[in-house]
Amino acid sequence: SRLVVLVSGSGTNLQALLDACADPAYGAEVVAVGADRDGIEGLARARRAGVPTFVHRVGEHASREDWDAALTDAVAAHEPDLVVLAGFMKLVGASFLGRFGGRVINTHPALSPSFPGMHGPRDALEYGVKVTGATLFVVDAGVDTGQIVAQSVVPVEDDDDVASLHERIKTAERAMLVDAVGRIAREGLVVEGRRVRFGG
Ligand code: GRF
Repeated sequence: SRLVVLVSGSGTNLQALLDACADPAYGAEVVAVGADRDGIEGLARARRAGVPTFVHRVGEHASREDWDAALTDAVAAHEPDLVVLAGFMKLVGASFLGRFGGRVINTHPALSPSFPGMHGPRDALEYGVKVTGATLFVVDAGVDTGQIVAQSVVPVEDDDDVASLHERIKTAERAMLVDAVGRIAREGLVVEGRRVRFGG
């Protein structure tokens, strides 16, 4: 399977995918990495792995819709089977979902449907839950609302702060992402209403 991965930050999830793809038995390859900003470690990780990159900043386009269309074209040029949003901090829009809908997955650092949005670890900590985790989902037009592909649970410890909790979540998140993307690549993904299973 051909993967295009979109990043906005440190790219540790991307790195986990790049490392997994080094084994041919994994069944996938990262054919391009895109970003919505320059100068991030995620892009450096792609370059070190010899993977082509592209950047489209919202601010360099006349409108959000134009940005979304340019991003769609840039991704489409690499003919992905699956698009992985890995710490990509922008919502993709109508043209993107029109082109790739059902083949775009995103990872969220909380157990959906709890704590959607930008601050999953902080919101879980403030609420006082004793377990949280990571969720892999099929991207739809909402914020972290798509069908759930996989989840991984982590405990909240009494002495956690947002950083320590997010680090524990990210460790689980990377393993979940690598496992699920490999299964999608090798087996496929079946979506029936809200319910998702691996298979074809
Ligand atoms: C992940 O926890 C992701 O779910 C969240 O931001 C983090 C990105 O980490 N939205 P990285 O860039 O993959 O290291």
